[in-house]
Amino acid sequence: MKTIEIEDFIHAVYPMHTYLLTSIDKNEKTNIITIDWLTVLSRNPPLVGVAVSPKRYTHKLITSSKEFIVNVPDISMVDETLACGTLSGKNVDKFEKLGLKKLPSKTLKTNIIGSCIAFVECKVIDFKKYGDHTFFVGSIQASYAKEGFLKEFKPILHVKGNIFTTISGKTIKAKSSRS
Ligand SMILES: Cc1cc2nc3c(=O)[nH]c(=O)nc-3n(C[C@H](O)[C@H](O)[C@H](O)COP(=O)(O)O)c2cc1C
Repeated sequence: MKTIEIEDFIHAVYPMHTYLLTSIDKNEKTNIITIDWLTVLSRNPPLVGVAVSPKRYTHKLITSSKEFIVNVPDISMVDETLACGTLSGKNVDKFEKLGLKKLPSKTLKTNIIGSCIAFVECKVIDFKKYGDHTFFVGSIQASYAKEGFLKEFKPILHVKGNIFTTISGKTIKAKSSRS
């Protein structure tokens, strides 16, 4: 066996599902960040966790507003998703720059992205710095999706750098060892 570097290890867990997180500044203006490092933590109560670097403008916003929304884009939004992951809301309004539509959320001050297909509104109940990222735990206040989400959804899967893929729709049923 050969020792692998941390970057090789990270890519052993890829492709990863890519999301767009929205959060608000002190004037309640919504910013967008692209995120791979997101996980479901609990069904009951429903909790999700996201790892955000303190270098991101979003880190400051989530730390002070204590809320964020997971907006789920489909593969048609791949260019906007890369742009939200390279531009900073500190210098640019990503909604304006990318022609994205803001819509009100159901329970929070943060807006949602109109062209995304599903939404999970979260209030931060805990956060802790681990290494070079902060892990924010969000308690789900509302979750909803557009028609077709369960049937036709083609997610954005991040492979590496600016390379993305999606699902073919082909599924494999594993043999059960139980029967
Ligand atoms: C596909 C992709 C996935 C990313 N995943 C994360 C992530 O999980 N956590 C993170 O802190 N930054 C991640 N980034 C980097 C941020 O999206 C990027 O630094 C962004 O410009 C920060 O925006 P902000 O300064 O407006 O918050 C990712 C970028 C890309 C392109």
